[in-house]
Amino acid sequence: MTKAVTEPVSSGDRPYSGSLLEVEDLQVEFRTQAGVAKAVNGVTYSVDAGETLAVLGESGSGKSVTAQTIMGILDMPPGVVRGGRIRFRGVDLLTMPEAERRKIRGEGISMIFQDALSALNPLFPVGWQIGEMFRVHRGLSKKQAYAKAVELMDRVRIPAAKQRLRDFPHQFSGGMRQRIMIAMAIALDPEVLIADEPTTALDVTVQAQIMDLLAELQRESNMALILITHDLGVVADVAHKIAVMYGGRIVEQASVFDLYAKPAHPYTKGLLDSIPRVDQKGQDLFAIKGIPPNLLHMPSGCAFHPRCVFKRDNCTTDVPALLTVEGPRRSACHYSREVLDGVAG
Ligand SMILES: Nc1ncnc2c1ncn2[C@@H]1O[C@H](COP(=O)(O)OP(=O)(O)OP(=O)(O)O)[C@@H](O)[C@H]1O
Ligand SMILES: [Mg+2]
Repeated sequence: MTKAVTEPVSSGDRPYSGSLLEVEDLQVEFRTQAGVAKAVNGVTYSVDAGETLAVLGESGSGKSVTAQTIMGILDMPPGVVRGGRIRFRGVDLLTMPEAERRKIRGEGISMIFQDALSALNPLFPVGWQIGEMFRVHRGLSKKQAYAKAVELMDRVRIPAAKQRLRDFPHQFSGGMRQRIMIAMAIALDPEVLIADEPTTALDVTVQAQIMDLLAELQRESNMALILITHDLGVVADVAHKIAVMYGGRIVEQASVFDLYAKPAHPYTKGLLDSIPRVDQKGQDLFAIKGIPPNLLHMPSGCAFHPRCVFKRDNCTTDVPALLTVEGPRRSACHYSREVLDGVAG
């Protein structure tokens, strides 16, 4: 299918030549009664057309809050963006007037939500809900919008799309409902698609089908895909690069190949060691000891130090910066080199 030609939002004569979407040193906090929770604490990542970035990390590490901030749908208040930039085609979304930003939402950047299955309205037929994207954003008539909905349902491989147009969400299986959500997210041909845990609620076979579908849609339209997950196993086949989050920061960023071959951060190493392997049958699974940090009281120095098997003195006092270790790989650990070479400890 052909991709809609989108003018650069900079609308100048200079098309932007950097990454399609760049998040730089993003900081988001929540002001709660218990105190200030630093949910996103200096996140930097980027993604290009046709590229898949997987964002990994335990529950509460700030994956969804970063995505919500990119989309401009952060819960404000209590959320506050404290700093950073989110550049789409070179233009900072954080300083853009809301009217312009609204145009980018859905058409430029779109998102499949973590609780996608409950995001569908139970009272309206799915064809109507998909068609709404075209009625609202493109001013199509009811009939035209239904025709577009059938096209999209076909595209996300919902069998007998035309006959199912007037069915309600509860008449579809979980996997099919997820396909409907994907259809809505890609309806306006976004350049960047953020998929927040798109397969969590689904069984393993359906998970694989949904991942295949996302990869296929991406190839067809050359979208940039940000795939948020806490499952390292899911991303190996589909992602090009991985950003690992811990306590609201990126602690390691690398190509999938490099990261799987050798981690440069102890947390990534822990995650890789906790993937079940066939040759481990009967043995206890490795699990990273300890619990994720309390965002109201972040540990001093490196936030991972209380759980780190490689911890040394300066880890409790100095925050490690995200630095290049080798090639495009970056890691935020004082001992990245040693971890990478397998000599830390
Ligand atoms: N509306 C809110 N008000 C207060 N705190 C919030 C709000 N939304 C998120 N948070 C906090 O921000 C932190 C990061 O949350 P986020 O949803 O980004 O985690 P996540 O990495 O997506 O985790 P999960 O894997 O469970 O989805 C959490 O501690 C969460 O409690
Ligand atoms: Mg989340």
